Formats: sequence, structure tokens, C-alpha cells
Amino acid sequence: MDRVIIFDTTLRDGEQAPGFSMNTMEKLEMARQLARLNVDVIEAGFPISSDEDFEATREVARQVGTLDGAPIICGLSRVGLGDIDRCWEAVKYARRPRIHTFVATSDIHLKYKLRKSRAEVLKASVEAVRHARAYCDDVEFSPEDASRSDFDYMCDVLSAVIDAGARTINIPDTVGYAIPREWAERIARIREKVDGVEKAVVSVHCHNDLGQAVANSLAALASGARQIECAMNGIGERAGNASLEEIVMALRTRKDFFGVETGVKTEELFKTSRLLSHITGVHVQPNKAVVGENAFAHEAGIHQDGVLKEKLTYEIMKPEDIGRSSNKLVLGKHSGRAALSARLKELGFDLAGGDLDRAFKAFKDLADRKKEVYDEDLVALVTDEMTQSEGAYVLDYLHVLSGTNVIPSATVKLRKDGQTFQDSGIGDGPVDAVLAAIDAITGVKGRLQDYAIRAATSGKDAVGEVSVKVDFDGTVVSGKGASTDVIEASARAYLSALNRIVRASGQRTREVGP
Ligand code: KIV
Ligand code: ZN
Repeated sequence: MDRVIIFDTTLRDGEQAPGFSMNTMEKLEMARQLARLNVDVIEAGFPISSDEDFEATREVARQVGTLDGAPIICGLSRVGLGDIDRCWEAVKYARRPRIHTFVATSDIHLKYKLRKSRAEVLKASVEAVRHARAYCDDVEFSPEDASRSDFDYMCDVLSAVIDAGARTINIPDTVGYAIPREWAERIARIREKVDGVEKAVVSVHCHNDLGQAVANSLAALASGARQIECAMNGIGERAGNASLEEIVMALRTRKDFFGVETGVKTEELFKTSRLLSHITGVHVQPNKAVVGENAFAHEAGIHQDGVLKEKLTYEIMKPEDIGRSSNKLVLGKHSGRAALSARLKELGFDLAGGDLDRAFKAFKDLADRKKEVYDEDLVALVTDEMTQSEGAYVLDYLHVLSGTNVIPSATVKLRKDGQTFQDSGIGDGPVDAVLAAIDAITGVKGRLQDYAIRAATSGKDAVGEVSVKVDFDGTVVSGKGASTDVIEASARAYLSALNRIVRASGQRTREVGP
């Protein structure tokens, strides 16, 4: 069966959207999971945009791109030759590196943004591809704003870059303007008109401004596109990119219609989605297709009746297909390390050594507090541990005094680099008091911009997951924390945001943008 290349841009287009920025460690964590998900290409960053993005792309190439069966590791670059050099410096460590170079081809962009003529842009595109090909065989070219570009001119550029050595031509609907039938026709016409097109893979990259990104991407397949650029949870510039999980599950569920397949291990989808939410602090909406909380929940009596009699009545996919458990009771307080390790492995977390020790301790603490430990609790706990353990400050101890007619106060102990720090604070409520105590210890003052709490499972003893957005002197950072104690979860969430600021010394300043 025909194979579609899944090109994941969560760490590049996704990450560049406000509120989704990730540091090197977070990108690495995500990239490892994307490799387990078995995507074909990971676009790890835009190396020229900042030193931090360069470092993150390089580390993904070094640490993920060298694994057995690793995906292609790609870096984005404008057509400037210096940009391409920098991109290569970052991706060259991967077993299979790719340089993705782009320039706008629409008259709107040429006139107002680039202030260049069509001839100049064509020449720069060819030089860029030639320069990139001198470094590696795998070069991708994108004519930015393709959906609004003059068709004949864009085809001239595409013919010229294929001649110069581009092996993938990616057609972006940069502003999410296209409509499925029109987009499919455009891709078909490109395949007819562009010289040498048979030597290149035709790819699409669709934005979701009109809610058409997935539909446009899928429509392009009928016209022969064989690479789809997409992002987990549909994150990306503005309204986002085409959602990876929707594309992959549409292709799997409607194989009868599309007649193509992907290499994605769909059982990893839910975990990948959760990890991304955890790292960025941004939850997906409950009714989000495939990975939303309600995606498999049947509420209406008539639906429940049907599903109980035969799942096929209302379910076109199984929760297990995306690696989602049905809240099975798994472990109790007498379960040992081996049982935890085996269950975590089944859930996709292959932990060993110190990571497993930390997870086991967190599990024991949880099992002491909570009678029944569900898979969902474990996922919340482990993803929380994974990100907390990377931080500079670790919560050691917390004591809160709160109630009616008392001024809430808190004492907090934090650990950092083997040292322990303690301080106290008062506030409007217990969470405010805890955050004041943390600020007193760290000397970094954060202003809480957003605070949300949700239960990982049902029941009064459920693990609470807190997401925060904190403004640290003009830089807004997200954080997440989990615990059966919502005050502790709040402290952990705040600390995870604070740790991101502390780690990102010499914070990112984006110098350029696509
Ligand atoms: O949306 C866009 O045009 C892009 C390109 C860099 C491919 O992200
Ligand atoms: Zn884009």
C-alpha cells in the first residue's frame, strides 16, 4: 500500500506559537516521544532564529537522530546562505539530516515583506537549494504563501529548485486560505506543470485559520501529495497546523477510502498528546477529535444503550487504538517496583535507574493517599515527575494554614543543587500564600496570569492536575503539576514554570520568523 510520510513540525511551527515555547530539555523529551510514535520526519527547530533554538535542534539531532531507526531530523532555514550554514551545523549530527529552506513566492509577500522582484526570489531559491545540497542529499523547499502565489511563477520556482536538487517540494497554505477542492486541484496542477516533479516528493503544509487544515491536507493526497506536515494537538502559528492525530487516525480509520498508510504507532498518540500538554501547560479542548477528554465519552442515554449492546453502534475507533486506557484499576499500595515498571512499560514509559526510583517513590506516596490507582493517575504522575525532575528547584516540604477567619499562610522548603531553602508567605488564599513563600525563597517574582485545575480521573481522591501561566517580568511561561493535594499540585505547577525561567538564562529572543 502507498505510504504517506508524516512530517512532524510540533517542535518548529508548533513551538513558535505564543504559549508553546519549549526549552532544549523539553524539546528533547518531546522528540524522544515523537521517535517512539514513529513519525518519519521531526522538524526540530529554526536554528538561525536564536541560540537556544540552534542548541535544541542540534541536541535533537545528536541525541534522537542517532538512535536506531531514528526519524529524519530536519531544520528550517530561510534562503540566505548563512541561514543554511547555521541549519546544517545543527542537523549534521543526525544519521539522516534534512535542510528545509523556504522563501515567500506570493506577490503580497514579495512586495510588502521581502521587497524583492520575482526574478530575485527565483535566483535566491536556486542558490539556496544548491548550497544546501552541497551539505546533504535531503533538501526540502517551500514556496511560502503558496495558496496565494501566482500559479505559473510558483511552478517556475518549483521546477528550478527541483533542477537544483530539492528532493521534497512542500506546498504551504501559510495563511490557511485554501478550501479542500480548490487545494486538491492546485496540487494536481502542480504535479502536471512542474518540470521534473516525478523526482521529488510533493508535500503539503496547511494552516487552520478557516478550520480546513486537516481537510486540505487529506484532500491533497488524492492529487498525489505523499508527505503531510502536521503538529501534535494541531498546535502552530495562529490557529495552528493540521493536527497529526486527526490525519493519522483518519487515514487509519478510513483506509478503505484513502488507500494509503502511515508508519505511525497510533497506540502512542494519546501519550504524546498528554506529554505535549504537560510540557507546554496547554490542555486540548475536551471535544478535540481523537485526543480530547470526551472523544470516547458517550453521554446521551440512547448512545450509552447502543454502546453497551455493541460498541460499533457509536464508536468508529477504539480508545486502545490511540493508547488510551479505560481507567483500569492497575496497582495498589502493596505493588512493588517490578509491577510498577511493567505497568509503566505497557503505558509506554520505559523507565530505569533514577527515573524509575523517582516514579516509584511518587507512586508509593500516591498509593498511600489514594485507594485506587488508575492508569490515568500514573500517566499524570509520571509526566509530572519527568518534567519536575529536570527543574532547578524541587519541592521538599509544604505546610499550609488556611480556613475561615484566618489569614492563609504557608511554609515551603525547596531543594536546589543539594541545598535546602525555607521561607514562608501569606496571601489571599492558600495557593497565593504558597506562591508568596516560593517567591521569597527564589527571589524571582511571578504574576499568575492563568490558573486551571482538572481531575485526572473521577472520584474525590483523584489526582488533580494544575496548569498555570505565570508572567515573570514580561515573559509568560506555562507550567503544570499533579498531586492528590491540589495545593501541592499548584506549588509544583508554579515551580515547573519558574524552573523554565531559571533554566532559560539568556532567554530566547526570536530574531527572525517565517
Ligand atoms: O506556514 C508556512 O508557510 C511555513 C513554512 C516555513 C513551511 O511554516
Ligand atoms: Zn507554517
